[in-house]
Amino acid sequence: MTPIIPAKSLNLAVMASGRGSNYEAIYGAIKRQDLDAQIKIVISDKANAVVLDKAKAANIPALHINPRDFNNQAEYEKELVQVLGEYEIDLVVLAGYMRLVGRTLLNAYKNRVVNIHPALLPSFPGLQAQKQALDYGVKFSGCTVHIVDEGMDTGPIILQAVVPVLPGDTEEDLSKRILQEEHCLYWQALQLFAQGRLYLKPDGKGTLCLPPIVI
Ligand code: GRF
Repeated sequence: MTPIIPAKSLNLAVMASGRGSNYEAIYGAIKRQDLDAQIKIVISDKANAVVLDKAKAANIPALHINPRDFNNQAEYEKELVQVLGEYEIDLVVLAGYMRLVGRTLLNAYKNRVVNIHPALLPSFPGLQAQKQALDYGVKFSGCTVHIVDEGMDTGPIILQAVVPVLPGDTEEDLSKRILQEEHCLYWQALQLFAQGRLYLKPDGKGTLCLPPIVI
């Protein structure tokens, strides 16, 4: 078996559509030297995404690539692949990127596109995951870091963290509690790649970390 990425200091591209608190948490982990990586570029599909300002303030190249400037998703993703190649990106990190990723990007970065989702997958995929969890009445929710495939939040799971759902929780309360965990979980999952410890399970269902994580 070979690791998805052999041990190395990772060149990351962060793709985000919004405020970028996960981007900041990853950036912080790199600065603290908890994560052996560098953010080479931040890309957003939204011109006014706050994450672009945050990246610029840290002198990280920040690019708006507008999907509407292209004839179709494949053309748009060809441009993304071109840019990612220029920056010698090892791993594409989706952090609040509000689009489904298509075949063009996934084929170019096979098993090297990751995402964080604010629920314990496979429960509550898609939009408003925290509201879905509250509406269902679960007692625990959390967040999931996973490899991206063509489905909606369906790819192999890397790490998960659990948070309680407390009586009287609003969507905002629960989102906040989950977000705190996201900020600790994402960089830890990325560090498994950097350490060359992450493998796809032979049946393709899920990932293996070797040596295993000791809790
Ligand atoms: C997070 O809740 C993440 O789980 C979801 O989108 C949100 C992004 O938040 N995929 P931020 O922009 O990183 O603050």
